[in-house]
Amino acid sequence: MPVDVILGLQWGDEGKGKLVDAIASDYNVIARFQGGANAGHTLVIQGVKHVLHLLPSGIFHMNCKNLIGNGVVLDPVILFKEIQNLLSYDNSLTQRLFISKKATLILPTHKFLDKIQEDSKKEKKIGSTLKGISPAYQDKIARLTLKVGDILKPNFHEKYHEIKSYHLNLSKIYPSDLQYDIEFEKDFWDSIEYLKSLNLIDSEIWINEILQKGGKVLAEGAQGSMLDIDFGSYPFVTSSNTTVGGVCTGLGVPPSAIHEVWGVFKAYCTRVGSGPFPTEEMGDIGNLLREKGKEFGATTGRPRRIGWLDIPALRYACMINGVTQLAMMKSDVLQCIHNIPVCTFYQTPNGKYPLPTDYDNITPLYENLEGWYQYDFSNASIPQNLSNYILFIENLLKLPIKMVSIGPDRNQTIYR
Ligand code: GDP
Ligand code: IMO
Ligand code: MG
Repeated sequence: MPVDVILGLQWGDEGKGKLVDAIASDYNVIARFQGGANAGHTLVIQGVKHVLHLLPSGIFHMNCKNLIGNGVVLDPVILFKEIQNLLSYDNSLTQRLFISKKATLILPTHKFLDKIQEDSKKEKKIGSTLKGISPAYQDKIARLTLKVGDILKPNFHEKYHEIKSYHLNLSKIYPSDLQYDIEFEKDFWDSIEYLKSLNLIDSEIWINEILQKGGKVLAEGAQGSMLDIDFGSYPFVTSSNTTVGGVCTGLGVPPSAIHEVWGVFKAYCTRVGSGPFPTEEMGDIGNLLREKGKEFGATTGRPRRIGWLDIPALRYACMINGVTQLAMMKSDVLQCIHNIPVCTFYQTPNGKYPLPTDYDNITPLYENLEGWYQYDFSNASIPQNLSNYILFIENLLKLPIKMVSIGPDRNQTIYR
């Protein structure tokens, strides 16, 4: 009864969506377990691009059930729009979609609070996607918000208005000129009605029954390990456990059910939003990689910050997650440069470290590897210098790179 897991090992946008879609047909269920519409997972299927924010990335596979688990914070407005956009492509997709009644609802006032809380941080902004993620998780932990299952209860409206007034009172403590726009509520109420028509289930029971019958589940992580609320570069993180522990709490599956843990990383690094980024490359080469890799956020369109592969951060993420195998994405993008620096250790005033402990006063120590300049990947083969790069990383992380991605399309994938 295995649950396999796909997790981002860096700062998000590693290409998780592509890997999930590429291997989804081996599974009965694809399940999101944390985060919300801050995620933007891109799938390219026969040249057609889809960006998913809440729908799990197995949604295009007719034989897969897709679950939005209890650990997710669900914005019904975004879910409604996402489904409507895809219905012309596949009008049966909601039959394969299941939503936990225990998932937390994102309310219009959560998005309002996200904006004013972020505004009030001035130059210390986190760079939030402003999807209401942090206020919704704050309320979940404070035990005062609404869950998806509450929409079926007679006192839903009453509870909604109680929480809304609490939020509007709370908003007054922030020095912001932003006003709450009641217009947002129309879409919200329409989408709540729509949500009632979907498969709302006790997903922890449902998923365990599937596992007991021998079904296979793939848990799809959102964000990346370095954005984890506990293990990321706090406070520049998201508000959920993006690491493997989040799978158990976000789906209700036991740790003993977890089998393979895929760690997904880009052959270089990116980060959107503020916070430490030890290997950041701000010069022309960074700009070139941004352009070649189309490094602009799938959710917000913001330019992603670019950096070199950071082995201390990867070692850390592999350790926390118990990664069993790796997938390296965007290997094709690096063919625009001759030499590729890889950070193998962090130098700090107190010594040389293989793992991140503190992000102050870090100097990355690099080794330079020869690139695969202008290599043509159209025959889906791995050039010698890329092979050397792979072996170098495998040796440092003591883990196999089982999949190498050489383009955004589902088919531009090499299994080793
Ligand atoms: P996710 O959030 O981890 O699912 O990743 P995103 O979808 O936000 O960002 C990854 C981006 O890289 C998307 O635009 C993908 O289409 C694209 N992508 C994924 N794998 C590859 C690859 O191997 N090569 C190239 N050039 N693009 C890729
Ligand atoms: P996927 O699943 C990259 C970043 C934001 C910000 C911080 C907090 O596509 O990899 P939040 O909206 O969660 O309060 O923002 O986390 N962030 C992401 N960066 N990919 C994501 O998701 C992200 N989700 C959140 O940019 O720095
Ligand atoms: Mg993304």
